[in-house]
Amino acid sequence: MMANEEQANRKVKPTVVVIGLGHVGLPVACTVAQAGFHVWGVERDQAKREQIAQGNCPISGDEPGLATLLKEVIAEGALHVAADPSECGQVDVFLVAVETPVDPLSREPAYEALRGALTTLGPHLRPDALVIVESTIAPGTMEGLVKPSLEAASGLSAERDFYLAYCPERVMPGKLLANLKTCNRVIGGWTPQAAQVARELYRHFVQGELDLTDTLTAELVKTTENAYRDVQIAFANEIALLCENSGADVYRVRELVNKSPLRDMHLPGAGVGGHCTPKDPWLLLHGTRGDLEAQLIPTARWINDHMPLHVADLAEQALSQVGKSMSDARVAVLGYAYLENAADARNSPTIPLVTRLEALGASVTIHDPYFESYDVPLHKTLQGSDCLILMVAHKQYPALDLAEVKALMATPVLIDGRNVFDKEKARELGFLYAGVGNL
Ligand SMILES: NC(=O)c1ccc[n+]([C@@H]2O[C@H](COP(=O)([O-])OP(=O)(O)OC[C@H]3O[C@@H](n4cnc5c(N)ncnc54)[C@H](O)[C@@H]3O)[C@@H](O)[C@H]2O)c1
Repeated sequence: MMANEEQANRKVKPTVVVIGLGHVGLPVACTVAQAGFHVWGVERDQAKREQIAQGNCPISGDEPGLATLLKEVIAEGALHVAADPSECGQVDVFLVAVETPVDPLSREPAYEALRGALTTLGPHLRPDALVIVESTIAPGTMEGLVKPSLEAASGLSAERDFYLAYCPERVMPGKLLANLKTCNRVIGGWTPQAAQVARELYRHFVQGELDLTDTLTAELVKTTENAYRDVQIAFANEIALLCENSGADVYRVRELVNKSPLRDMHLPGAGVGGHCTPKDPWLLLHGTRGDLEAQLIPTARWINDHMPLHVADLAEQALSQVGKSMSDARVAVLGYAYLENAADARNSPTIPLVTRLEALGASVTIHDPYFESYDVPLHKTLQGSDCLILMVAHKQYPALDLAEVKALMATPVLIDGRNVFDKEKARELGFLYAGVGNL
């Protein structure tokens, strides 16, 4: 009787387990729960588990709707939290959303989290269940790692017994819930039927188009879209460096270039960060290796990685113009996040910038309203500083009164990494101004 009741309930509300409750997994779990499924979030970080189980959102920064939705789905009992899939009963759908970084030195995929997720879910895989990987992975990973791991752990076949699909996420911090619901999605099925079964799930909460394909194509689509963005930014950064050599303003050049049909030049700046853009080009290259050695994609990575060091060079040159060396300078850096108005510092360009400045002997103070440890009163950061470096265009910074800023500083050197300040106005006030792509 109990078993029948349970079965009847499961038919009404399939059980979905989301593995990894991070920037992707948590909004996914909340959205799937809101769509009427019975959701378990499996998370290995105990502190995060406890926070989420109490309805408190661990993701800080401006994330519209997420904290409220989490509270709702926890209060309604639509989302539960667990340390292991063994706590979740009979599972209909597994969604894997764990981190997939690359090794900082070798640039090879570092799949410890993915392997861990596959190992924990494998033994709980039942016939007719659906497994979807949402993490970004190198082309060929579904075939070379995911499918064999799951088959070995479960004794089941992805051709005959369960459904296996790859559906990468396209969310951006600051728009996690909105992107989840509205972005078009590509669904790569290990079999055409698996892609169709996965589409039935996403239909419940995705308003964008759902394009079906095979797993390899979907893996290539995701890594290519981020490599494409990285290359575009690197192009803009290279033009910025050339404009510096020519004494031109890259932002004016870009504005006029983009008036030409079919041009969409990206914004240059002080570097590229985040969990995804700096590593996904390496995942693409890892998964497509052959006789051809790619040139453009690794070069773009090098250019973008170099930009924070270029900012340090600009600061050093500007300071030397006013007779100061970096070794006796106090430098105030505005922005620790990798993205404006976000509390995410993964691969933030500010990190290599500060490392370089400190290696040159500077005394560095960081300000960032989105990080508790750097959310000090701004005047304290600026007081007595010899150089101000703007790294992140947080919404609080364009409103700064430059005259007040100058009054607080010991030496008025201003390095603008994101074209936030008005160069002419800064110079009129007496700043020694240097902007990336606009000296
Ligand atoms: N952050 C983004 O904006 C974004 C956008 C698109 C795609 N992606 C991709 O989505 C994936 C996840 O990214 P993220 O930003 O959410 O990462 P994250 O680091 O914020 O979250 C991953 C979570 O998974 C947990 N975890 C790791 N291994 C686990 C395991 N074996 N069992 C249970 N929990 C485990 C971690 O503790 C962490 O909480 C990555 O592949 C990333 O490239 C991210």
